[in-house]
Amino acid sequence: MFRRLKICLSLLFILIKGYGQNYDETKVPIYTLPEVLKTLDGKTVSKAAEWEKKRRPEILTLFEENIYGQMPKSYDRITYKTVNDNPNAMDGKARLKEVTITVEKAKKSVAIHLILFTPNANKKSSPVFLLINNRGNENTDPSRKMKSEFWPAEMAIDSGYAIAAFHVSDAAPDNKDTYQNGVLQLYPNQVTADNGMKAIGAWAWAASRVMDYFKTDAAIDFSKVSVVGHSRGGKAALWAGAQDQRFAMVFSNCSGNTGAALARRQFGETIKRINTTFPHWFNTNYKRFNDNENALPVDQHMLISMMAPRPVYTTSATEDLWADPKGSYLSLIESQKVYALYGKKSGLTLTPPPTNTPIIHSVMGYHNREGIHNMTTYDWGNFIRFANFHYYGR
Ligand code: GCU
Repeated sequence: MFRRLKICLSLLFILIKGYGQNYDETKVPIYTLPEVLKTLDGKTVSKAAEWEKKRRPEILTLFEENIYGQMPKSYDRITYKTVNDNPNAMDGKARLKEVTITVEKAKKSVAIHLILFTPNANKKSSPVFLLINNRGNENTDPSRKMKSEFWPAEMAIDSGYAIAAFHVSDAAPDNKDTYQNGVLQLYPNQVTADNGMKAIGAWAWAASRVMDYFKTDAAIDFSKVSVVGHSRGGKAALWAGAQDQRFAMVFSNCSGNTGAALARRQFGETIKRINTTFPHWFNTNYKRFNDNENALPVDQHMLISMMAPRPVYTTSATEDLWADPKGSYLSLIESQKVYALYGKKSGLTLTPPPTNTPIIHSVMGYHNREGIHNMTTYDWGNFIRFANFHYYGR
């Protein structure tokens, strides 16, 4: 009974939210993906060195120009201020630090508030999961009075991992009228440039500033920092991982359109839809590809490819057709070629794995969780297993 009600509600949701989007596999258009290994001057890349020197930078620029915008690298000063330090958090299991990261440029500044728990059981530095939090602050409650599956801090600590989060609104409010009131105050030219950074670029930029902080904190194993994001945060996590190769791993949960899913399939959310509802997420040039996916010089498999040779894990949910589970899996499949340049064979199966059957022992991991668009302890459990496998071979 409950199950039926849930299905009816999901269908209603799709109808309301569907905006006439396609959910029928037989109506997916025939498409040709841009060749990830073919350079703009038509040469096929066959070695990792060529990929790194030529093709990867080309692809990064194409994404900057056409989708996520530039990633400004300069600023005058960055400072870190610990505003709360509790060595006995979580009943003594963890140390809590809250750090304000302030970045200044041309007399403007932006402050990113970081919440970080590190496991007291680890005598040495700890690997860490950093969440780009796009949901309410209560999900990352430092007092732990409120607990949430979205950021199960106790679970990470019990597994020997540090866990951290910052809220996207510190970097760029998630609003088309106010998104400039954050990182973009440091880079006002980006707001008007057609290829300028917008909100998702600013969130990824902020993740990199947290990375700068981690480098200064002896409790963190800087070679083992994972960036994690859900949905719009999952799009930002992939962009952060592409821009900043200091991230050892990326976890992108239900990221869908302009995240892990192939745009050319036009299944669920489309470029036109996302640009219409969220005009402040991507650059102005991206609007040229509304109803015009095939003109894009990239597709999202090329974003995943930029993680290579680092491990990357993406997820879907069975009731989250809006985010195109199949298109997300196909992105991974297409990226295998780039991992192969590094001699990395993935453990991906030819067709998407059955529901709730994670692919963990592979450089590219994936699962399709039963349920709705969300990030849960099921997802996190698999992130931890994937990290355990890659860091410790267990
Ligand atoms: C909307 C949007 C998606 C996004 C999601 C989210 O559904 O269309 O692109 O991923 O919100 O962030 O939860």
